Amino acid sequence: MLVIQTKKELKDKLSATFLKDKSLGLVPTMGALHQGHLSLIKKAFAENDHVVVSIFVNPTQFNNKQDLEKYPKNLENDVQLISTVSDKIIIYTPSVNEIYQNNIEAEVYDFNGLDTVMEGEFRDNHFNGVGTIVEELLTSIEPNKAYFGEKDFQQLTIIKKLVKLKNIPVQIIGCPIVREESGLAMSSRNERLSKDLRKEAAFIYKTLKEAKIKFGTKSALEVTNWVVNEFKKNDKLNIEYFQIADTEQLQPLKRKSKNKNYRAFIAVFADDIRLIDNIAL
Ligand code: PAJ
Repeated sequence: MLVIQTKKELKDKLSATFLKDKSLGLVPTMGALHQGHLSLIKKAFAENDHVVVSIFVNPTQFNNKQDLEKYPKNLENDVQLISTVSDKIIIYTPSVNEIYQNNIEAEVYDFNGLDTVMEGEFRDNHFNGVGTIVEELLTSIEPNKAYFGEKDFQQLTIIKKLVKLKNIPVQIIGCPIVREESGLAMSSRNERLSKDLRKEAAFIYKTLKEAKIKFGTKSALEVTNWVVNEFKKNDKLNIEYFQIADTEQLQPLKRKSKNKNYRAFIAVFADDIRLIDNIAL
């Protein structure tokens, strides 16, 4: 496995001869990889001649210092997992200094309101941080396609907006949510859950599926009230938000329109561990 730490080395490796008439896929990650990440890597490997997986815990997208410090890191394990897809995949693990030099700051973007709802409302400046690192990776690596999970549907929507805003010539590919057997969406944070809470967290997807059925006959407000009430009855999980929004503008649904697609989005705390999920309605 080739593990590269610097932009220059990566550029050299991806030089014209190596990539002549070949396609390049990029999968940006923060490491602590699981089967959700692997599904993106497998898709990228199936669709491209070369694949780069970046592993970088991006400081500017964390509004909570503790969350950043506690973010799990296990490069050896990550390399091993990636090698189960192919040992031809290039792993890029830059240092914070390599990406930000001495200026660990996020660029400020105008995402036209996509970034102020849901995750943006509760995680100050988060999407400016995500935009900054993703723009840096896309413009320095220049992939033909880049892969992102629907697990972070708002992030995926904002990255599609980012490449339009900045005219970056790349195709953004969204990939479906991979779940544990219990239905819990896979996440690096699941590792921090106690055995008991991990079991309990299956309640999140179970409730989303029931909300989806209710949305067939009930208004967004009625479904929202029902979900909030279900979580009130659960003393192990605390809901932060539940929102039904259209899939283009991500604005809270007021009146259903036949021409729009909707999703339900949720964020829940299990102890101090924040879990997010969403479902197509
Ligand atoms: P990270 O949380 O490591 O996720 C990397 C990619 O894997 C994201 O596109 C995410 O949506 C996807 N992913 C995570 N869990 C998934 C699951 N259960 N099913 C499908 N896809 C899943 O998201 C980030 O990192 C960062 O914000 C990043 C884009 C790398 C920028 O720093």
